[in-house]
Amino acid sequence: MSRFIDELKRTHRCGDLRASDIGNEVVLFGWVGSRRDHGGCVFIDIRDREGIAQLVFDPEYAKADIWTARRGTAIADAELCHVKEAHHLAEQVRGEWVIGVRGIVVSRGANKNPKLPTGEVEVIVIEAVVFNRAETPPFEITDDLDTREEIRLANRYIDLRRTSLQRTLRMRHDINRVTRNYLSDQGCLELETPFLVKYTPGGARNFLVPSRLSPGKFYALAESPQLYKQLFMVAGFDRYFQIVKCFRDEDLRLDRQPEFTQIDVELSFVNQDDVFSLIEGLVFSIFEDVLKKDLRALYPDGHFPRLPFAESMARYGNDKPDLRFGLEHTDLTELIIEQGGGGVSFWADIAQKFSGGQYRREVPAEIVKALVIPASANFSRPQLEELERGLKEIKGFKGLARAKVAEDGSWTQSPLAKSITPEARQKINEAVGAKAGDVICFQFGKTAVVHTVMAKLRVDIAKRMGLIPEYGHGDQWRLLWVTNPPLFEHDEDTGRWAAAHHAFTRPVDEHIPLLESDPARVECYRYDLVLNGFEIGGGSIRLHDPDVQARVFKTLGIDDEEAREKFGFLLDALRSGAPPHGGIALGMDRTAMLLTGAPTLRDVIPFPKTNQGTDQLTGAPVVVDAAQLAELQVKSTFQNPG
Ligand code: AMO
Repeated sequence: MSRFIDELKRTHRCGDLRASDIGNEVVLFGWVGSRRDHGGCVFIDIRDREGIAQLVFDPEYAKADIWTARRGTAIADAELCHVKEAHHLAEQVRGEWVIGVRGIVVSRGANKNPKLPTGEVEVIVIEAVVFNRAETPPFEITDDLDTREEIRLANRYIDLRRTSLQRTLRMRHDINRVTRNYLSDQGCLELETPFLVKYTPGGARNFLVPSRLSPGKFYALAESPQLYKQLFMVAGFDRYFQIVKCFRDEDLRLDRQPEFTQIDVELSFVNQDDVFSLIEGLVFSIFEDVLKKDLRALYPDGHFPRLPFAESMARYGNDKPDLRFGLEHTDLTELIIEQGGGGVSFWADIAQKFSGGQYRREVPAEIVKALVIPASANFSRPQLEELERGLKEIKGFKGLARAKVAEDGSWTQSPLAKSITPEARQKINEAVGAKAGDVICFQFGKTAVVHTVMAKLRVDIAKRMGLIPEYGHGDQWRLLWVTNPPLFEHDEDTGRWAAAHHAFTRPVDEHIPLLESDPARVECYRYDLVLNGFEIGGGSIRLHDPDVQARVFKTLGIDDEEAREKFGFLLDALRSGAPPHGGIALGMDRTAMLLTGAPTLRDVIPFPKTNQGTDQLTGAPVVVDAAQLAELQVKSTFQNPG
């Protein structure tokens, strides 16, 4: 049996060796990376999570006189034997075998490798062991590989050996560590909440879990600890946090996974500013520790800017604007109404509909928006057409009207050019600040569609202009709070008001009188934290006042019975001595994705699901057999279409 592990303990990680270790005897364990046989002398790169070290297996060193001549010291016969055996072993090992070595750190002299942190040194191996062989891996363990993602995910344990994934997961660990330390220091207690919970309607779609012990009944997998963290406040824990898995059966995209992790926080006796300060401190600490980046250069007072929701929609078309670039929208609705449509027939329809003062700037039903592509972008016609094609996936998108501004302010290359009145054209040019060579893009119709189209267009243009990278941060960081969105949302299908987020969000104090008379204008203490165009967190100050709560329920058309059925235990709790409280949850995966510059959430989650929600490694989800279903008293109605 080899002496490794029992007697010979690891002295260093491979990637840690430096010039200061020269002359020392070391023991390293790791995986065989590349192997080069220089006619007798074998070089092997040994790899562990800290990096790579170069090993030298030189048979010449098995000769006592050579050892003495080169090293200036004598060597025992038993050692010479080891050197010989080690060299023999090195001739056999292959990539990804797991080995252990004992050797002496020496300088690489003129053969330094400046690309490697360990590049100044190498290890002359005296003794070696093979712990395990490995089959040839299905793909090379390198960062510039073009292997399909499904294959990588199916062999995730191999994929995870790559330096880039080792780095991102290490950074994720660092975010976890900083978060735990910071929030504990801030007096938050890390408390756990159940995953198997009661299904409550609204919010994200839940995964359901059948109960064997209560046949015919189901748990839901918690979409977040929301209700429980509020109960902690009622119970007097005062400040809580948890780094917690959440489960949502949603359609997936690059920044969504069905199971993801939140940094979840709830605080008693706080207002919105208090929540912001705590989280700003956390984000500052994470940046400082993980990226060695001092955000104070950007935000000297320690606070991120705040943008009211309505302004965010007007200027950027969504509530998570990327502020690394400008390209703001201009709302032309009032101008178009004033101009009676300005000669453009579809604008005339909007103008007519809202003439006579029915247009409400705060809650517009239809709008006209413009966005200027600056002349400096110099987009060709095919490029403009491609931009338009990129918008086709948006539901309700009917096309993008464009006009190129000429030297004299007239419009060319546009179907609008013929019909627009000179006055309307001049006013639009002024409103959007258009100069010769600029292209004005227009979008009009239902507010939500216009915003969605123009928000995507804004980002697509920025990417094409090189203002932001396709993925990643380009070491540019823009954080902001988007605040005070509407409390209610009008459901056109049912004609009812629905809670835009959840029914326990506190309305803005000044808007409480509008709860019955003008629900559309009621804003609430809800906030999102946005980083480079991604929503990395969201939360609210909760509604703990039973009177206001009753009025909110009334507007939502929820009667006492329905309220009891849906929120019974929370209502009881809130009536049993609930402190004013509020909180937030940060998306850990999204934060890690942005900080590491990874293109998808999958690159910061060790074992992620695909966009179809499947696990390539294990094959989950799988069909289970009839006996298992029978035990749960569940019957599948699925019929394979094939
Ligand atoms: P919310 O639903 O806004 O709030 O979620 C908080 C944050 O979690 C992240 N997130 C996701 N990340 C990856 N995949 C998903 N499917 C996914 N869904 C959400 C986002 C988001 O900002 N209970 C409230 C918080 C509160 O009010 O305190 C909540 O869950 O970054």
